[in-house]
Amino acid sequence: MSEGRSASAPTALVTGAASGIGAAFARVLAGEGHRLILVDRDDARLRSVAGGLAVECEVVAADLASEADVAALEARCRAVDLLVNNAGFGHPTGFLDTPVEAEVAMLRLHTETVLRLALAALPSMIDRGRGGVINTASVLGFFPSSTYSATKAWVINFSQAAARTARIHNVAVTALCPGFTRTGFHSSARMDMSKIPRFMWMDADAVAAAALRDWHKGKALSVPGWQYKTIAAIGRLLPQKLIGRILSGAATRPASTRAAAETD
Ligand SMILES: NC(=O)c1ccc[n+]([C@@H]2O[C@H](COP(=O)([O-])OP(=O)(O)OC[C@H]3O[C@@H](n4cnc5c(N)ncnc54)[C@H](OP(=O)(O)O)[C@@H]3O)[C@@H](O)[C@H]2O)c1
Repeated sequence: MSEGRSASAPTALVTGAASGIGAAFARVLAGEGHRLILVDRDDARLRSVAGGLAVECEVVAADLASEADVAALEARCRAVDLLVNNAGFGHPTGFLDTPVEAEVAMLRLHTETVLRLALAALPSMIDRGRGGVINTASVLGFFPSSTYSATKAWVINFSQAAARTARIHNVAVTALCPGFTRTGFHSSARMDMSKIPRFMWMDADAVAAAALRDWHKGKALSVPGWQYKTIAAIGRLLPQKLIGRILSGAATRPASTRAAAETD
């Protein structure tokens, strides 16, 4: 942690800030002169990110799937100018093979925690007539492919609704929809990414910078990268039935269950 800017600088709270896109948000926001509150599970990794930043920076070690930790953070969110709801994770297995506790933990983190922190932050932002929220979703939120994509579809839908309400009060809400981004996400989820072509990979700093540019412009959706702008547009324009067919073809489930799904 280091001191640097004045206490009147805007304050941003970033979750999942110990690595990947969250740490990139911390770097880009520090460059814009924000005071930072960085939240993640691992205190040591948070301190290492904070140590590289030339702004006033507080670290909060918290498990955002825990009721007590989320309740404590709600109180902090009431006083911030920008909330970045970014913490998240994926599963290495499909939902039929994932323990229900792990599914519920992901659902809570990606939806309930995002909702609670946003609802804690927004009323005082609206009273002040400035500030906002960035919720990290995923380009997969445009495609019904998994429980992960379902949680991210919720983030997109909720953010767009919140954006419409908040915009009237000069407060911006943006759903960030990244594609494949080089972070710890895929190794944490034990995913084999060796077949993903190079041009599909984005840099975390570029993703965070694009999200902030779009948030400053008041956009409800931020899809960084031409590849993912194209994919997201296809996801929104193609009929759901056709997307379902394409995803069923790509799925690795047994033929018997695939045939049943195709009759939906
Ligand atoms: N990377 C991609 O290709 C990609 C694409 C689309 C969307 N996203 C989304 O981007 C966001 C950031 O992911 P990332 O790619 O930057 O992955 P990452 O490098 O793994 O960072 C995610 C951070 O969130 C933290 N986190 C997870 N569960 C938490 C919890 N219960 N409480 C507090 N912190 C928790 C992780 O901590 P631990 O290490 O302790 O788990 C980790 O530091 C996620 O919402 C993800 O779904 C990523």
